[in-house]
Amino acid sequence: MAEHLIGLLLGAEEDWPRAFEELVRRAGPVTAPDGSTHVVRTERLAIAPFNLREKPRTDLVIDRLAHWYYHPREWLKKVALMDDVYLLNSPFTFQSMEKHSAYCAMMRLGMHVPETVLVPYKNPVDNVRWAYTSAKYNQSFDLDTIASDVGYPMFMKPFDGGAWRGVSMIRNEADLHRSYDESGEMLMHLQKAVDGFEVFARALTIGPETMVMKFRPDEPMHDRYEVAYDFLTPQMGQETRTIAQTVNAFFRWEFNSCEMLIKDGVAYPIDYANACPDVAITSLHYYFPWAMKSLVKWSIFCCVTGRSAQTQVNTAPWFQIADRDMDYQAKLQAYQRLSDQYFDTARYREFVETSLPHVDELVLDWVLSDDFDNLLVDTVKATYPEHEHERFLAHFRGLTGLWAKDEALVLG
Ligand SMILES: Nc1ncnc2c1ncn2[C@@H]1O[C@H](COP(=O)(O)OP(=O)(O)O)[C@@H](O)[C@H]1O
Ligand SMILES: [Mg+2]
Repeated sequence: MAEHLIGLLLGAEEDWPRAFEELVRRAGPVTAPDGSTHVVRTERLAIAPFNLREKPRTDLVIDRLAHWYYHPREWLKKVALMDDVYLLNSPFTFQSMEKHSAYCAMMRLGMHVPETVLVPYKNPVDNVRWAYTSAKYNQSFDLDTIASDVGYPMFMKPFDGGAWRGVSMIRNEADLHRSYDESGEMLMHLQKAVDGFEVFARALTIGPETMVMKFRPDEPMHDRYEVAYDFLTPQMGQETRTIAQTVNAFFRWEFNSCEMLIKDGVAYPIDYANACPDVAITSLHYYFPWAMKSLVKWSIFCCVTGRSAQTQVNTAPWFQIADRDMDYQAKLQAYQRLSDQYFDTARYREFVETSLPHVDELVLDWVLSDDFDNLLVDTVKATYPEHEHERFLAHFRGLTGLWAKDEALVLG
């Protein structure tokens, strides 16, 4: 019997790790397509000094820290390079290919990323060489001209993005100068706003599983995802899924969210490099069981089939398609095929059917169990002030209950 360990590198989150641990435990031993039996366990990883030659016990790690905490990040790079540990996500591509690179690559692939300009730092860079270098080589520029070329309204936001830090909407020159002055030591993009978009679609992708959700950025956290079924035409539904999966397959990101704005039949991707996508039950609510289920299926698939990790991006097959004289829809279809190849989607689906046939039922049973309700109660207590507990508990019980009803119909 083969044993596999999934390591969790966690920050402040309690909700989804508890859900994930419980579901992997309930999934029990798994029979692989070759008839061998596999036991998968989970463990929360501690951060400690490590010898670079030390062998890790983990086969796969779900990481939520590397984007800001460098000790575990460097451990992840060591175990990927030396021990073939499979990572969701790999810091190799997330560290070098942040938002800015993601814009560049997807522009070359033909996606409708809004016009974007990178402007130099507002404040001097903290480096003794800066004064000389900038005096000699920094070209003076007229911010107003650049902005009027991009066109108002626009967004000013950091080139590496994340959590709405430093993002502002710019409607006029006064906004422009205020925001640029405030940007200080951050490196900023100016990006044309997709003004008056009809739908904000946010796609969460885990391996080859994608859920495109209707997002309302102006609502409070617990109300941002709207439970909506037919908010996109079938064709746009497919296009947004393909865009999200293309981003992930291209960069080898496996657990990521992709934000797209839809206007006049065009999908504009605006933010799709999220190394630590939000999967809190208090924001995903209805979609939380789907997210947990996908994370369980994909990570068990990777462990049991010994899927090998690739640390580097291979741009060539993508750019071959991108640079061809082909219309956008045809390119998207070709990207979808490359994504399916990268994620081994057909084999994954077959594995889920034959080795994990019980997981859908199991997740539904769990969502209907006291264990799930306890998780909800604990999370609400930890997240909201006491006078709001009752209201939020009813809100999330209602939405997850609705999921259970819909799921029961799907499973028959
Ligand atoms: N080009 C754009 N057009 C319209 N809205 C935008 C644009 N860029 C950003 N926004 C708005 O600002 C929010 C934050 O910007 P985003 O690029 O997602 O940054 P972060 O990486 O911090 O999440 C988006 O969710 C969206 O509501
Ligand atoms: Mg965003």
